[in-house]
Amino acid sequence: MLDKNKPGPGHSSEGRDLSGRTIVITGGAGFLGSHLCRHHLEAGARVLCVDNLSTGRLRNIEDLLEGHDFKFVKHDIIDPYEPGEAIDYIFNMACPASPPKYQLHPIRTFDTSVRGSHNLLELAMRRGARILQASTSEVYGDPAVSPQAEDYRGNVVTMGPRACYDEGKRAAETLFYEYNHLHKVDTRVARIFNTYGPAMDPEDGRVVSNFIVQALQGHDLTVYGDGTQTRSFCYVDDLVAGLMALMYTEGDLADPVNLGNPVEFTILELADLVLAETGSTSALKHLDLPKDDPKIRRPNIEHARDALGWEPHVPLIEGIRRTIPYFAAEIAQSAKAQV
Ligand SMILES: NC(=O)c1ccc[n+]([C@@H]2O[C@H](COP(=O)([O-])OP(=O)(O)OC[C@H]3O[C@@H](n4cnc5c(N)ncnc54)[C@H](O)[C@@H]3O)[C@@H](O)[C@H]2O)c1
Repeated sequence: MLDKNKPGPGHSSEGRDLSGRTIVITGGAGFLGSHLCRHHLEAGARVLCVDNLSTGRLRNIEDLLEGHDFKFVKHDIIDPYEPGEAIDYIFNMACPASPPKYQLHPIRTFDTSVRGSHNLLELAMRRGARILQASTSEVYGDPAVSPQAEDYRGNVVTMGPRACYDEGKRAAETLFYEYNHLHKVDTRVARIFNTYGPAMDPEDGRVVSNFIVQALQGHDLTVYGDGTQTRSFCYVDDLVAGLMALMYTEGDLADPVNLGNPVEFTILELADLVLAETGSTSALKHLDLPKDDPKIRRPNIEHARDALGWEPHVPLIEGIRRTIPYFAAEIAQSAKAQV
């Protein structure tokens, strides 16, 4: 049974009726993928959640496992996947997204984006399914312009600790482009900017989860560099609404679409906000800036506004307020498990 109290949509799937449709969601046990699974079940769809559980957690979907319309398939998309039933849509969300996680197995990260996307594009072609790629703002690298629009070609490096992720995602976009042009596969590419919210792994090393968990535990908040670098943070419900709009809007939408919140904050502003909202007295601890860390990051979302009628609605302070109780519960749960 779908547990409405679990971290999940928190808002409706916008009245969309997807009954009779079967959706493959790769990376469905991860942060964004698990929200997508919930939204689709709410909309009446059948969901095939395909995940190798490398960074995802069964915990994110355990309340869904008994439902008739939900099937979990433990599978690595680097190997071809052949569902034993008809499918209509594929969301390719599989890939570790947090730098410490994707840098652990860089060649596997690259292969997940490239060979994984290739396998899924072949599947989409064989089955006549529409397919959406979770691409990323990292295709812009350390951008020399702000905000970043889709026609900005980026400032990226092929060699360096972030390249396995950034270049893998760029190559995946090329595959999506070619399958659309050569094979007429119905493709969509979402360039996702930093997103946060319930269902994030407290230990996966992203800035919002790090800060909230550190603040709640009374530890120093780790700020890389001087903290003046900027990010734009999108609340997960807004992002998922954007992904759904991109997948289910009819028309020629094969070109990449930025999805993110255009309001920009410095990392120091985020730290202050988290301290204020958690009531924590933690101090800030500055560490060296990781190599190739982007200094600015802000989406131009005009294309999404025009083509999809989509824009985010949840301000950072509101999203942080909705996210803190989730991490507090996660911390309490792991403390209980250790007793
Ligand atoms: N969250 C963000 O801010 C953000 C920003 C830009 C892009 N994205 C993209 O969105 C997607 C989802 O990100 P997320 O934040 O939910 O990350 P996540 O790490 O929580 O989820 C990724 C999921 O993919 C699974 N996975 C990884 N490699 C796999 C493989 N080879 N085969 C099968 N499953 C595999 C993991 O187990 C996990 O469940 C990723 O593709 C990521 O690159 C996310």
